[in-house]
Amino acid sequence: MLIKPHEVQQVSNEVINMLHDEEIEIINSFYDAVVAKDIEKIDELFKVVLFDVEDHFQTEEEMMKQNNYTNYQVHKNDHDTMREKIAKFFERWLVLKSPLELQDFLETDFKKWLVLHVSKWDSEMALHLGHAM
Ligand SMILES: [Fe+2]
Ligand SMILES: [Fe+2]
Repeated sequence: MLIKPHEVQQVSNEVINMLHDEEIEIINSFYDAVVAKDIEKIDELFKVVLFDVEDHFQTEEEMMKQNNYTNYQVHKNDHDTMREKIAKFFERWLVLKSPLELQDFLETDFKKWLVLHVSKWDSEMALHLGHAM
């Protein structure tokens, strides 16, 4: 397990918390396949990760736009940075098939990014949106 659910802060919006719970679950399955160096499983789950991350980011971005949220652009920029990284690692995976590279990325970069991003940007956005959504 890469990310224990309590390591990612709960925010004041249940839709966002659900997106995060789902992502933690998918990332943890992906991480298990990476550690086990199960190439076929990584191939399969990497696509699920790409889809889920996009769904997570897009849903938040739609919520921000609908609510004319002031920090939309900075928040989206932080998503875009991670979108680019994941896309880059996916391209590299297709060529190199290196589970070690993915393990390093997940442990040293992705996990830290997610924990910080949620505590900084998502929690602030959730406060702005309130509990209504
Ligand atoms: Fe989020
Ligand atoms: Fe976010």
